[in-house]
Amino acid sequence: MVFVKRATGVILTTLALSLTTGAAPSAADPCAKFAGQQFVVPADALTCLKSFPFNETLRQNVLTNIARVFDFFTFEDFYLNSPAPFQESTTNIRADIARINRTTFATDYDFNRAVYDFTTQLNDGHTRWFPNCYTSFQNLLPTPVVTLEENGVQNVFVAPDSVEFVNLLGVNYTSHFDQIGFNFRRFAGAKVLSIEGQDPYAYADFIAKTASGNYLDHGVRVNSVFSSYRISGTDFSQRFGDISGPAFPDKNFLTMTLIPVNSTKSETVQVPFLASYVGAPFTDRASFWTANCAANDETNGVNLRNSGVSAKRATQKQARAVIIDKTPANGVGLPSQFQPRLPQTDGSTGVIKSYILPDNKTGVMFVGSFEGDFNQFQTDTVAAIDQFKASGVSRLLIDLTNNGGGFVCLGQFLHQYLAGAKIGYPGFVSTSRANPLAQKIVAADIALGVTGQISFYAPDNWAFLNDTPQPVTFNYNTPSAPFKINGVSDPTSQRFHDICTPFVVPVPEEPPFDLSNVAIVSNGNCASTCAMFSTLMFERHQTKIAIFGGKPGEQLQYKGMAGNQVLEWADLDTEIKTAGVKNDPLAPPDLLIQGNMRHNWRTAWSFLDENVPIAYESELPQFRFAYTKDTYNDPQNLWTFAASKLLH
Ligand SMILES: *[C@@H]1O[C@H](CO)[C@@H](O)[C@H](O)[C@H]1NC(C)=O
Ligand SMILES: *[C@@H]1O[C@H](CO)[C@@H](O)[C@H](O)[C@H]1NC(C)=O
Ligand SMILES: *[C@@H]1O[C@H](CO)[C@@H](O)[C@H](O)[C@H]1NC(C)=O
Ligand SMILES: *[C@@H]1O[C@H](CO)[C@@H](O)[C@H](O)[C@H]1NC(C)=O
Ligand SMILES: *[C@@H]1O[C@H](CO)[C@@H](O)[C@H](O)[C@H]1NC(C)=O
Repeated sequence: MVFVKRATGVILTTLALSLTTGAAPSAADPCAKFAGQQFVVPADALTCLKSFPFNETLRQNVLTNIARVFDFFTFEDFYLNSPAPFQESTTNIRADIARINRTTFATDYDFNRAVYDFTTQLNDGHTRWFPNCYTSFQNLLPTPVVTLEENGVQNVFVAPDSVEFVNLLGVNYTSHFDQIGFNFRRFAGAKVLSIEGQDPYAYADFIAKTASGNYLDHGVRVNSVFSSYRISGTDFSQRFGDISGPAFPDKNFLTMTLIPVNSTKSETVQVPFLASYVGAPFTDRASFWTANCAANDETNGVNLRNSGVSAKRATQKQARAVIIDKTPANGVGLPSQFQPRLPQTDGSTGVIKSYILPDNKTGVMFVGSFEGDFNQFQTDTVAAIDQFKASGVSRLLIDLTNNGGGFVCLGQFLHQYLAGAKIGYPGFVSTSRANPLAQKIVAADIALGVTGQISFYAPDNWAFLNDTPQPVTFNYNTPSAPFKINGVSDPTSQRFHDICTPFVVPVPEEPPFDLSNVAIVSNGNCASTCAMFSTLMFERHQTKIAIFGGKPGEQLQYKGMAGNQVLEWADLDTEIKTAGVKNDPLAPPDLLIQGNMRHNWRTAWSFLDENVPIAYESELPQFRFAYTKDTYNDPQNLWTFAASKLLH
């Protein structure tokens, strides 16, 4: 059976810039003031964002849209009383929407920020409101922080590499600090005694609770407040972390008390933020709105049965489970001296970077994501493992640090490749929510003959639990299957398997390495498909997992959040329009502004207990280590350390 394919939900249109012909922008225009600049003083950025007045029509449009999207969110009723140890996320989603509906807001920003904060604090990276207008900056602090152990004690420090790291933002960033006479270079490596008047770990907890989002586990969110290495796209990169690189330009300074390197005296300083503009080009307030805020051709879905439309959207699409990291810090690499010095093996040009450690026994695959080129991920895996085998490598370390997920079937591929085809089905038992509109969509798809070529709801996307594909006429949503959580009846679809095989490369029958010689390292920021992959390795093969970092004394799960598949708003709307049910009173309205209410659309049920979604299965790593000055930004040093501890 071929992969599930469908046209992509994206049409690229030239962003309509209102071309202000000749006329100089008015000095009073709060956005024109910094048009064309790469970096902006946060107060100026916020004045522009807050210049759009609150609009009741837009509030009703957005809230009606998201309320009806939430009908599809698999975990809605779990939130009424989130199971331990995930209690922090407990909330009543319908009451939150009602509260935001009756709150008085001064500006459109304030309204959208309330929706953003409410969905972010659900701590499910698949289920969030992203108002494009207001996610167009990233506030950046020149003193990013990390947690490190020194002489057996853990403390928060300004990243020791912060000068090399921050220099990569370019002279437009650093020259601002030179102009205002703030010497951030003096604080590289400084020990941090307090942030905003609080113990730095208490401040880390606060940011993890209020701003980080994405991961159900609080401990995992604490790690995302600190700066860390990653692969972004196909390149080594360093993330600022949520304390130093928040999504909104709403803070001008961060007050820090620190002891600089080579000093014994503590100093309290107000470290200025400078915001990076990551939105579309504009010239003034009106064109800012057109480019970033007004709905465009990509905002809502389309009816893919309309041949004109599907011809335009001809790219392949596959099930994805991935978070959106809206803090991209454009163009910040990992300073080159900290990137691995070892030669890369074959198959290292994509999202996977592979190496053989100097012991000649340990192969390392740094799997940066499950995104990118679907086929290349598979051929790169084969190339790296073939070279490992040819070189006499007998043990394998997989680094999943900051892996935000990607194609569902690539997680299953890597699992099956490492465990051997003899394990059979390499994924989880799955369901979607059988709400009344979802039932109408499946029924309509069957009646219209819609197939998996253009729809995720079409029955032939999925297999029965014996791995026979469902016929295109099999209604897996009616009758629904009963499910009850927190006293609420929340029926699901009938249970099914993904269809990911055959893969584009042959999968060996036996594992290429004895699975007791395979180990995983990460910082717990391993989301979606990454969480599914590591859960499969842990639940089915008891693979050793080591997690680095976190707050000392606070527990930390090895996975961040584990849905099964995400649908962007445009994807869900395309399902609704393709099934011909957009006029149903339960259908969310088209958005009038550029935004995305994405949601977790499918549940993966735990291999250990098929009544518990893996997202809510508490699983702690067998190993936990602190970062040190030598490992926090230096993957090769971390791998060498981890191999000595995990693989004997
Ligand atoms: C600095 O910013 C300007 C726009 O203000 C841009 O044209 C230029 O390319 C930037 N310089 C660098 C080195 O990025
Ligand atoms: C509010 O937004 C709607 C939809 O974009 C628009 O038609 C209307 O003019 C706006 N109202 C005001 C007062 O600007
Ligand atoms: C918001 O409240 C108003 C007034 O009670 C109501 O008419 C409207 O339907 C509510 N909107 C949403 C999205 O719940
Ligand atoms: C601290 O002192 C050592 C020894 O004098 C020196 O090599 C190092 O550059 C100093 N570090 C900083 C950040 O000033
Ligand atoms: C590993 O292999 C390289 C190249 O064959 C060799 O130079 C080196 O001595 C080997 N190292 C060990 C620890 O055996």
